[in-house]
Amino acid sequence: HRTHKVTVIGSGNWGTTVAKLVAESTREHPDVFEEDVQMWVYEENVTIAKDSPHYAAVGDQPQKLTSIINTCHENAKYLPGIKLPSNVVANPSIQDAVKDSSILIFNFPHEFIANILKQIKGHILPYARGISCIKGVTVTDHNVELICEYIGETLGIYCGALSGANIASEIANEEWCETTIAYNTPPGDLRASNGAAPNDNGGEHKDSHGQISKIKLTPLPQNYPPLGHEEFYKLFSRPYFTVSMVSDVVGVSLGGALKNIVAIACGFVEGHGWNMTAKTAVMRRGMLEIIAFAREFFPETIEEKTLWEESAGWGDMIVSCTAARNWRYSKMAVERGVTVQEIERTELNGQKLQGISTSREVSSFLRARGAEQNYPLFLAVDGILDGKVKVEDIPKLFRK
Ligand code: NAD
Ligand code: 13P
Repeated sequence: HRTHKVTVIGSGNWGTTVAKLVAESTREHPDVFEEDVQMWVYEENVTIAKDSPHYAAVGDQPQKLTSIINTCHENAKYLPGIKLPSNVVANPSIQDAVKDSSILIFNFPHEFIANILKQIKGHILPYARGISCIKGVTVTDHNVELICEYIGETLGIYCGALSGANIASEIANEEWCETTIAYNTPPGDLRASNGAAPNDNGGEHKDSHGQISKIKLTPLPQNYPPLGHEEFYKLFSRPYFTVSMVSDVVGVSLGGALKNIVAIACGFVEGHGWNMTAKTAVMRRGMLEIIAFAREFFPETIEEKTLWEESAGWGDMIVSCTAARNWRYSKMAVERGVTVQEIERTELNGQKLQGISTSREVSSFLRARGAEQNYPLFLAVDGILDGKVKVEDIPKLFRK
């Protein structure tokens, strides 16, 4: 192997956008990456709209989404109107898509994680490395886990996280923005890429609780092409996508996951008829709850400056509460007097609102731990989703 093969697992709105941008980079750096980028697609039949420029080629019968992507170079369902580079190869077989790839990019709604990992376990290179672009957390048995760490532990690989103030459709249109990638290069990977003999590096790596990682890492083979900050920077950065590389996976992951709950709260208050000042109060209090959560459950490792300084912190909070789907569609729900779940089913054409399940998971975790008192906003969103709390009650929750 002289170059890294890249697979994007997932092909929704963000998955397809990330496949586009990394495929541009693999073309630009043939010395580092294999040109073709595999993109796993959850296969479905799609009917092309009559006014689509692809209608003549595809016809009016439903076609497999993978075949539309590979013939028209467009994801007509999840990213319509955006031309994909021809080196994005849509693949309906997840096992085939991940085969021989040393870089796995996880990019799908977090509720599908367990099922997807089950399908790829045992089919990946043992020394593959991952980046998770997923915004969410995994809650198991009174335990909250970062998605990237859950991926790493399930597959026995190291996986970092990419998150930021990133609206897929804007980035797909090559409008400029920033992102944050958290990646703790395993110490053995650095050694291997310097030509040193590979050794067992599993024991040296710390997890998000500051403990020696349980993952028994398979080291990169000796003299394998290096894989660390420099290579991930090359893969993800574009003239319109500014990448900041950090090592705080906790701050990056929690900022991206928990702001979705706050975005839903902002949609609720705006749908109720309150404007920017109320929304600002919700955002500020939401960020305090994110910080409290990080301090309470990841005290050994959280670097709070990530939340203040990086795109994955305040940046993502602002864009999510003013322009993203979780905000937009929860506002619509209140305006129409229906549930957010109903809006997700009827208005999103298959796209998902991560804030609904994240709110559910985080609230049940907090209740199970008896840790509700510091998170009135998180719990209020869960209560409103259940119809047990009213939007107009939100200010009361903060009264001293
Ligand atoms: P999406 O909401 O656009 O699409 C839903 C995806 O889920 C589709 O690809 C669909 O095929 C797939 N799917 C449906 N049922 C499935 C099943 N049973 N098993 C597996 N897959 C199934 O997805 P997205 O916007 O690409 O979101 C992926 C992640 O990226 C999320 O965690 C999201 O928070 C994050 N994110 C999204 C954006 C954005 O602007 N869209 C930006 C940053 C981060
Ligand atoms: P939505 O899923 O609410 O659109 O959020 C996208 C995002 O993560 C913005 O940074």
